[in-house]
Amino acid sequence: METEGGKSETVMAIVTEPRFTQRYREYLEQQQLLDRLHRVEKIPDGTVAIPVLGKNLPAEHLRELRNRVAPGSTCVLTQLAHPLPSKKAQGCSPAQRLCLEVSRWVQDRGVTWTAELEADLPQSWQRHGNLVLLSEDCFQAKQWKNLEPELWEAVASALGVQRLGKRGRVSPDSSRTPAVTLLLGDHGWVEHVDNGIRYKFDVTQCMFSFGNITEKLRVASLPCAGEVLVDLYAGIGYFTLPFLVHAGAAFVHACEWNPHAVDALRKNLEINGVADRCQIHFGDNRKLKLSNIADRVNLGLIPSSEEGWLIACQVLRQDTGGILHIHQNVESFPGKNLQPPGSNEMEKEYWPYAEQIITNHQCKNGANRDSGRKVLAAPTKPEWRRWAESAETCIATLLQQVHRKPWKTQILHIQPVKSYAPHVDHIVLDLECRPVL
Ligand SMILES: C[S@@+](CC[C@H](N)C(=O)[O-])C[C@H]1O[C@@H](n2cnc3c(N)ncnc32)[C@H](O)[C@@H]1O
Repeated sequence: METEGGKSETVMAIVTEPRFTQRYREYLEQQQLLDRLHRVEKIPDGTVAIPVLGKNLPAEHLRELRNRVAPGSTCVLTQLAHPLPSKKAQGCSPAQRLCLEVSRWVQDRGVTWTAELEADLPQSWQRHGNLVLLSEDCFQAKQWKNLEPELWEAVASALGVQRLGKRGRVSPDSSRTPAVTLLLGDHGWVEHVDNGIRYKFDVTQCMFSFGNITEKLRVASLPCAGEVLVDLYAGIGYFTLPFLVHAGAAFVHACEWNPHAVDALRKNLEINGVADRCQIHFGDNRKLKLSNIADRVNLGLIPSSEEGWLIACQVLRQDTGGILHIHQNVESFPGKNLQPPGSNEMEKEYWPYAEQIITNHQCKNGANRDSGRKVLAAPTKPEWRRWAESAETCIATLLQQVHRKPWKTQILHIQPVKSYAPHVDHIVLDLECRPVL
């Protein structure tokens, strides 16, 4: 992702002879394809590269340029790896650049540029390739209405993209559907590459939390070789894919009830070459028919995955048990700072988990695959520990009920993922669950 201030690493450009530059620029400008934020660059072979918007230029434009606009010209598409900012773009932040271009565009249409309009411009946005998602609190003033829909083309051009969407709040329904309206463009499919994994999804139908990258990286580094996993809230594959691609999981059962997310998940498994090691279970995971198969269960739902705890206990292997990764939003109170584990006596008493992560190699049935791994203990808050301990108690009870024999549980680690809201932290509890032999 790029947020405000970010720069794309590459841009598309058309290569031609210098004498055709002006004609090409005029045509591209007319077609709103000219990338005015990057400079035309000279190439050592004597040609020039003219930056254009988007990742691809439809073949019809190349034909037009070659045959009609500048007959006989070389006209090939290339990628500029380190595009130089145009004079105009230099020295401006992306938000300033947006203001500069939109204000000029508005005034060209005879509308007075006011402080109200200026304050109503977005200060931040999310960039997904050639689509920018604006935040919900911008473009609220009624003057904008008269300037739509061309306004969106001007905004997109100022941001150097071809599609625009506007975010609302992620709806509180359990499918976490994002309330995104497409302002410009005919579809919301985008692609991200994270840690070498490709994720495609429709921004208008599926959520993508950039804040979860730390957890995706952590999951990717877990030693899951040969393991069978159940991902109870798979979404588009945020965790299913790192488990399969990097952590070496043998097989993942991925549960998801949003058909749009399932569509994306299916694509993502294919494009990352791991479709043969994953079964998608479309529907409500609480009705899942699996039991006694999992070495590990991922419960990636916030604010809470509590509704999935029973099924998580059911799918754990009865002979060896396994590990649960339980996501939760935990509220904590101002004024209580993060404390590194073991920093005081009370911490030592309440916080044995940091040491356990490092030394938990002698699990009695020998099934602990996280053994010997050095994990830096994350700082912790008392509220996180309290929640983790109550979750542990609750899960120990569920395990006994489901499997009808005693189980042992152990908190391995508490991982902060992100700050979700003021005083609300998204954390993950790694809970080891083993049957007592
Ligand atoms: C937070 S999203 C994606 C989670 C992803 N693990 C992440 O953190 O970015 C949770 C996903 O769980 C799905 N979901 C929620 N409740 C479910 C249920 N009972 N059964 C199946 N899928 C469910 C939603 O549709 C959504 O795609």
